[in-house]
Amino acid sequence: MERTFVMVKPDGVQRGLVGEVVSRLERKGLKLVGMKMLWIKKELAENHYAEHKEKPFFSALVDYITSGPVVAMVVEGRNAIKVVRNLVGATNPAEAAVGTIRGDFGLDVGRNIVHASDSPESAEREISLFFRDDEILDYERADEPWIYEEK
Ligand code: RTP
Ligand code: MG
Repeated sequence: MERTFVMVKPDGVQRGLVGEVVSRLERKGLKLVGMKMLWIKKELAENHYAEHKEKPFFSALVDYITSGPVVAMVVEGRNAIKVVRNLVGATNPAEAAVGTIRGDFGLDVGRNIVHASDSPESAEREISLFFRDDEILDYERADEPWIYEEK
């Protein structure tokens, strides 16, 4: 089993898409093991997106991600990192496939609704930036035998 970090960005919260995003993750069979609402401060935003520090869009990205509350999640499941990236879709919603979150709900790369970790290293780093160990819960979903043939 793998864990990944997912976040409904400020535009997703403002547009009432939190339930839609959570619902898509849940219906896929992924398990929510951590969840919180917060308003990201500049320092955390810069740290979270540190890999983009030198990019021309960095300051706009920090402004965007700190512009309102977000919903942060830790999501668990087999191949969760790849599976969630596929559910989220391409970075630019205008190019994201129909059926993905960005493909169904967005038009602008600077307003793309949701974040998801892109590798095991970023998942680990991002989960620890947003969650303490005791905020991540270990439990079984009642439908797990109907989601996985073998555990
Ligand atoms: P994220 O990290 O938010 O899940 O998005 P991603 O992996 O699909 O894309 P990434 O390359 O990591 O870019 C991070 C976020 O920066 C904004 N962006 N703007 N104006 C631009 O050309 C541009 N490129 C990226 C987007 O909000 C993107 O999600
Ligand atoms: Mg990224």
